Amino acid sequence: MIVTIDGPAGTGKTTVAKKVAKALRFVYCDTGAMYRAVTWALLQNDLPLDDESRISTFLEQFQFSMKHDDDLTRYFVADTEVTEPIRSTQVTSHVSAVSALPCVRKTLWKLQHQVAERDTVFEGRDMGTAVFPDAEVKIFLTGRPQVRAQRRLQEMLRKNPKEATLFDEDKMINELMRRDELDSTRSLAPLKCPEDAYIIDTSDLSIDQVVDLILNYTATKRD
Ligand code: DC
Repeated sequence: MIVTIDGPAGTGKTTVAKKVAKALRFVYCDTGAMYRAVTWALLQNDLPLDDESRISTFLEQFQFSMKHDDDLTRYFVADTEVTEPIRSTQVTSHVSAVSALPCVRKTLWKLQHQVAERDTVFEGRDMGTAVFPDAEVKIFLTGRPQVRAQRRLQEMLRKNPKEATLFDEDKMINELMRRDELDSTRSLAPLKCPEDAYIIDTSDLSIDQVVDLILNYTATKRD
């Protein structure tokens, strides 16, 4: 069974998707981490981010893997662990441009379909629309920009307090809006709500409330 959880940044997708996967005993797959890993690798190799032909050649050698240790998922490009660097501001600010490139999406779609050989909860932007249009359960998370920005600030404060000093709420809202705009207006597989998705506005809900809604909904689909 495939469960897809799509939506813009700051809606709690990652935390929710991990908990849903754990409760269902499914594999958890953060496809945003895949796009971030490609972006990290391109920056690391000084490849121009608009040169599709060089990027395409580079991707032929691209090796990505995930290791699940309890609640922690670790990400690797070849043998290098990239769990932390893929969350840097530099990667975040370039990932939307990289993820708009057709050669990048095609490479990662292949990887995502390999993961889907097992029961999986996928989180991303196009999981329920482009990648798994036949998924049994499709969820779309939304949230008010101010709430989403606050969540991202809190997360940054926990994970990278130094970087957090460079942001305030307005700057974070602008950054989220910029990414939403790029992600939802690109021509290939833009961020959009699947027609048959269960939509949850997470603004005034706790993580556990969102998880419960998804688990209850999933149970109705499994019957
Ligand atoms: O969920 P995130 O913030 O880690 O995702 C990073 C970026 O990756 C996001 O801005 C757009 C891109 N992305 C995508 O295009 N398609 C996906 N399925 C997942 C992420």
